[in-house]
Amino acid sequence: MAAGNFEKYKSDGSIAGNALEWLDARFPATSMWKGHLSEYYAPKNFNFWYFFGSLAILVLVIQIVTGIFLTMHYKPDAALNAAGVPIAFASVEYIMRDVSGGWLIRYMHSTGASAFFIVVYLHMFRGLIYGSYRKPRELTWLFGVGIFLVLMGEAFFGYLLPWGQMSYWGAQVIVNLFSAIPIIGDDLSLIIRGDFVVGDATLNRFFSFHVIAFPLVLIGLVAAHVLALHETGSNNPDGIEIKENKDENGIPRDGIPFHPYYTVKDIVGVVVFLMVFSAVLFFAPEGGGYFLETPNFYPADPLKTPPHIAPVWYFTPYYSILRAMVWNFFGLDAKFWGVVAMGASVVIFAALPWLDRSPVKSIRYRGPITKAMITIFVICFFILGYLGTLSPSPTGEIISQICTAFYFGFFLGMPWWSRMDKFKPVPERVTK
Ligand code: HEM
Repeated sequence: MAAGNFEKYKSDGSIAGNALEWLDARFPATSMWKGHLSEYYAPKNFNFWYFFGSLAILVLVIQIVTGIFLTMHYKPDAALNAAGVPIAFASVEYIMRDVSGGWLIRYMHSTGASAFFIVVYLHMFRGLIYGSYRKPRELTWLFGVGIFLVLMGEAFFGYLLPWGQMSYWGAQVIVNLFSAIPIIGDDLSLIIRGDFVVGDATLNRFFSFHVIAFPLVLIGLVAAHVLALHETGSNNPDGIEIKENKDENGIPRDGIPFHPYYTVKDIVGVVVFLMVFSAVLFFAPEGGGYFLETPNFYPADPLKTPPHIAPVWYFTPYYSILRAMVWNFFGLDAKFWGVVAMGASVVIFAALPWLDRSPVKSIRYRGPITKAMITIFVICFFILGYLGTLSPSPTGEIISQICTAFYFGFFLGMPWWSRMDKFKPVPERVTK
């Protein structure tokens, strides 16, 4: 509803008008609606890449709602039932076979986890190509990196819960990595596991982190992310600050109210997303072994190590970076440097706003060096991701080392290559 309509509505003497007046005197309902929707002016040239923020919110809601229903039937218990199957594993089987609609809820949640990462990776890529991380949106970006880290933790904890072979052995491998940290490592991995081996205590604490601690932090960070963005206003494919060119009413000349224009546009994105998501859900919910790995259909067995342990696809680029580190430096083991490199490969995104020195934001007005660097970075990311799904091999090791070197080179070299690159003049007003 347009701004003026609210005032007319509130004074028309109707019950709804009076109710709104009552509410507004006690809660900033109208002003929030205006500030974040009907009078939030977004650049008029948003394109395909701007669908993924609202889609990330949609997937977050799907994960929370399906998660609530899963929690009604799931049991975090590693003890064996009368049939000799771990109770946690059996409770997931029960959801899949006996709870009405349980299979759908469970697949929405497990496939939803992969959808979440696909959407978030595309959302981050948009930030990368249009320079959305740069001044004045550094804080929006930093909240985003925080969200990404918490999301990774959330997915890792969730993957243990079905207590399948890959849940168990994946957690074993990852938690053991912490023991490579000097001095505190052994105690740290003990604290994470709650025991000397991954067991019932680990399952219970991962459940608690997965269903309450991390989702709470995630929701808080998403709220901060969007609030920070609405303070500065959105970037756009031209990388032009629309607030720098306002009309006599103080409205950006290149801005349009978020509602109704972008609410309608985002609904188109939601419909297309739901079509693709449903197709995967109904025809390939396991994503060919990438969304739900085959060994996870077998109950966890501490006595039987699967021949090949690999994390889910969204972690594999970082897993490859971990495995690429095979050298001992400064008396510290290769495993330690692997953990450092893996951690750094995610945290380094936070430095982007200060590494990029180009005079222009968007890739549209940047030269061949930026385009080549981003293309090679993406190719390396895919190669690392693919190698992380395979068993270690000498060739794979060398390729992953080359890609890891490029991965870090992209970030660490950015202050130089972004300044060396050519750039085109940025127009005054947004284009299309
Ligand atoms: C749960 C995950 C996330 C949610 C729900 C979310 C939500 C949103 C929404 C609704 C917007 C505004 C619409 C849009 O520009 O697409 C946005 C913008 C933005 N997000 Fe996120 N986001 C998430 C994760 C991330 C991550 C991981 C990063 C980066 C590391 C990030 C960086 C940004 C940036 C830089 C913008 C401003 C883009 C621009 O104005 O061009 N976000 N986000």
